[in-house]
Amino acid sequence: MKHEKLLLETAHSMVKKGKGILAADESNPTCNKRFESIGVESSFAMRNDYRDLLLTADGLEKYISGVIMFDETFRQSTTCDKKIAFPEFLASKNILPGIKVDTGAKDLAGFPYEKITEGLDGLRERLAEYFSLGARFAKWRAVININETLPSVSAMIANAHSLARYASLCQENGIVPIVEPEVLMDGSHDIDKCYEVTCKTLDILFDQLSTLNVMLEGIILKPNMVISGLKSNEQASVYNVADMTIKCFKDHVPNQVPGIAFLSGGQSSDLATAHLNEMNSKFNDLPWHLTFSYGRALQQDALNAWLGTNRSEAQEQLLKRAKNNSLATHGEFV
Ligand code: 13P
Repeated sequence: MKHEKLLLETAHSMVKKGKGILAADESNPTCNKRFESIGVESSFAMRNDYRDLLLTADGLEKYISGVIMFDETFRQSTTCDKKIAFPEFLASKNILPGIKVDTGAKDLAGFPYEKITEGLDGLRERLAEYFSLGARFAKWRAVININETLPSVSAMIANAHSLARYASLCQENGIVPIVEPEVLMDGSHDIDKCYEVTCKTLDILFDQLSTLNVMLEGIILKPNMVISGLKSNEQASVYNVADMTIKCFKDHVPNQVPGIAFLSGGQSSDLATAHLNEMNSKFNDLPWHLTFSYGRALQQDALNAWLGTNRSEAQEQLLKRAKNNSLATHGEFV
């Protein structure tokens, strides 16, 4: 494969022990919601300012290997006098610039309540441009809903196929694909249901990745943890989540995948760290590195501290969360 060496190097750096990924790739509508929750207007300039405070936090590179950005952020710059483009600024700190390339989850025709992620049209050209602007990895998120009758196998296959097409296009362009099949936590289902759906989602995903010749050594998997539904009356213990997540992944993720970088998916920041820590402290000899690629679990405290003006307090909160999760990649967070 043309970019094999670069892909292997990038994937390896993304999941190096002690480091994880900061997901700061909220689309503008999602960012609007986050800003609204703290009473801040979501303008182009305010989004730039917020992303600037996250990315310029002093020492971020000690804990963070890469940052996922939305297209708007990818083309914005630091707000200091020098105005350095964010991808260039991150690269100067030895942090890999990443780009969200899907265009969102839309209704899947013929399957009420199910979603299909879009964004394949023109993707080859967009990836080539992002690479030239410094992107070394990308992200595509597929969502799988659970309720009494869902998910359908059809939705799982359609989403896995799109993820595989995206992944092969990324690798063709020297960009490591973060492959994100998110089984949502929403709902009152128990952890066993999440386990069953996550295992099946992974089986179908790896079947599609293999069908489309994706080099597994050059992807990063970004899954949900195996966890109780948010509204379930029975919330599984930290050990139970770690145990069932590891069991699911040992049986359904090939050993060639270099790393698994979990999403936080609506867990509290504390629990997301505790679960990752439990997996890394209690389970040895895993074939892949287990790390984080959190959005909310890294940013929530920072956002609450910021309130549109308090940059240094927000940076302090971000660094605290990043450090805790860095420790959790070693199973050393206490
Ligand atoms: P959360 O950690 O907030 O789930 O976000 C991660 C992400 O990138 C979702 O696509």
